[in-house]
Amino acid sequence: MALREIITLPDRRLRLKSEPVKRIDAGIRKLVDDLFETMYAAPGIGLAAIQIGVAKRVITMDLSKKEEDHRPQVFINAEVTWKSAEKSKYEEGCLSIPDFYEEVERPAQVKVRYLDLDGQEHEIEASGLFATCLQHEIDHINGVLFIDHISKLKRDRITKKFAKAARKVEA
Ligand code: NI
Repeated sequence: MALREIITLPDRRLRLKSEPVKRIDAGIRKLVDDLFETMYAAPGIGLAAIQIGVAKRVITMDLSKKEEDHRPQVFINAEVTWKSAEKSKYEEGCLSIPDFYEEVERPAQVKVRYLDLDGQEHEIEASGLFATCLQHEIDHINGVLFIDHISKLKRDRITKKFAKAARKVEA
């Protein structure tokens, strides 16, 4: 396992559409291990491979509150197959947009189809924080960020802030 660097705004790789995983091999298992190590260290509850610069459709997640109840989950080639008309709002954040939180409205329930690490296909129905987190991470593998779901005014403000900070680091 290795701790990997999480890329942040305005890194353009965050806008890439990630490629489907064709074969779950040792490379994918290593990637999943690295994602978990990086996610737990951050700490965060979800991480998509593109956030460590790997454009593959791999997501890790753990919504447990305490370390002793750790419940690591892996979603490979995940896609939303159904969304409820009912919406819900959560305050979201993102390891790739540090220290910025904003309320986002999304479908309250979704169905998601994915492969587990053994290549078995599953379709699950999610609600609550789980549904929000799945949608947030699946957005990542499609090059979408949670700030795309907030007002243009707020999005422009935060985008400019990160662009300015990046220029400062370069200078
Ligand atoms: Ni995120």
